[in-house]
Amino acid sequence: MINQSVDQAAVDNLLVNFDGLKFKSIKIGDDSFKIITNLSCSQLFKSSVDHDGDAIDSREVGLNSPSDLTPGVYEGGFKVWECSRDMVQFINDDLQLTGTINCLDLGCGSGIVGICLLKSIEGSVDFQDFNQNVLINYTLPNILVNCKQSSVNETWEKLSPRVNFISGDWSNFPKTKRYDYIFSCETIYNQDNYPKLVDILTNCLTPNGCAYFAAKSYYFGVGGGVQQFSDFLVDKQLTIEEIKVFPDCVERIIVKITIKQS
Ligand SMILES: C[S@@+](CC[C@H](N)C(=O)[O-])C[C@H]1O[C@@H](n2cnc3c(N)ncnc32)[C@H](O)[C@@H]1O
Repeated sequence: MINQSVDQAAVDNLLVNFDGLKFKSIKIGDDSFKIITNLSCSQLFKSSVDHDGDAIDSREVGLNSPSDLTPGVYEGGFKVWECSRDMVQFINDDLQLTGTINCLDLGCGSGIVGICLLKSIEGSVDFQDFNQNVLINYTLPNILVNCKQSSVNETWEKLSPRVNFISGDWSNFPKTKRYDYIFSCETIYNQDNYPKLVDILTNCLTPNGCAYFAAKSYYFGVGGGVQQFSDFLVDKQLTIEEIKVFPDCVERIIVKITIKQS
């Protein structure tokens, strides 16, 4: 099931309990973000539901997991991954987007990329994660605390017309809206998902729109990576080019994807 917006009861619950949340600051270039740290705040979990509508406890999905993700159950949303920091830096230093544009943070997790956009553009930002639980208990509080100017209720009133939340597998991503920009970080580790990602890009970008993916050159033990994704796009209606490389033990890369003009 796709949730175009998060459950209102969960939002209300979050607003009431907002003062009890704790955040840490992370610095990315000249920008800084607050990221929620007390995910086990039990009030919030009461109304958590996963993308299939079943009650679920985040502590079972992700937080106490020995691994960073459990394929098909929890895909790593409760963590700020390295490449999302690269993307924020790239957006702030190189893209510097403004104006009324529609953006998608595909596989948003913490939401720092979408939050960075919300602060600079005037249009909408849609936040997508596999787990609705992540969107309610991690992405949304992060959005609220980072965009908060007055009270949290007023902040949400102003922001809610500009943000949408979409949960579920990419194979069910709604093809009802087109985006000027799609951003996606650390999402090409699993080659099984490439057809789903291509389908979203092909159907959801505006004709002149573009997508930026930030990823490691190779995901050891998983099999995906930038070259693998690039190879997969060869015979598709999409072009891909390397935009920025972050040299490290495992190189990190930002690629730009556009629709082939016929
Ligand atoms: C490794 S996390 C990265 C999170 C965030 N972008 C970051 O860099 O910090 C992968 C993200 O992709 C999403 N994701 C992975 N596979 C997915 C799938 N098959 N369908 C929908 N979302 C998926 C996860 O929910 C998660 O948000």
